[in-house]
Amino acid sequence: MIQWEKQYELGIKSIDDQHRRLIEITSDLSVLLTEAAYGEDIYDRMVEIIQALTNYTVYHFKFEEELFEKLNFEFKEKHILEHNNLIAEIEKLDLRAVDEDQITYGKKILKFLITWVFKHISGSDVLYRDLFIENGIA
Ligand SMILES: [Fe+2]
Repeated sequence: MIQWEKQYELGIKSIDDQHRRLIEITSDLSVLLTEAAYGEDIYDRMVEIIQALTNYTVYHFKFEEELFEKLNFEFKEKHILEHNNLIAEIEKLDLRAVDEDQITYGKKILKFLITWVFKHISGSDVLYRDLFIENGIA
């Protein structure tokens, strides 16, 4: 199980809630992998989680990007590029490989996601924090 840590909070409620939800979905994947370790077939649920993650990520990025436009965020191009790269990575996931070796593949995805999300929050999202707060985004 993966847990949200307070150090990742930006102090912007809407965004923090969305980030927390992203971590929750990622955590669902880690719980599922524990079940797979006991020999359960997790293929269908893994596909479901990845689908949920994709949908939520798209929603969250769109939310941020609309505010970048509205507030004319200085680093918006670079930030949007990072978003697009992650969406492309998620869409590239080969779900047939999941069926071959569910645990190995699932762990690989999990590790990638956790690293990405936390790195993105602490390295890129922090850059818009002050701008959002100054403009009353809560
Ligand atoms: Fe972002």
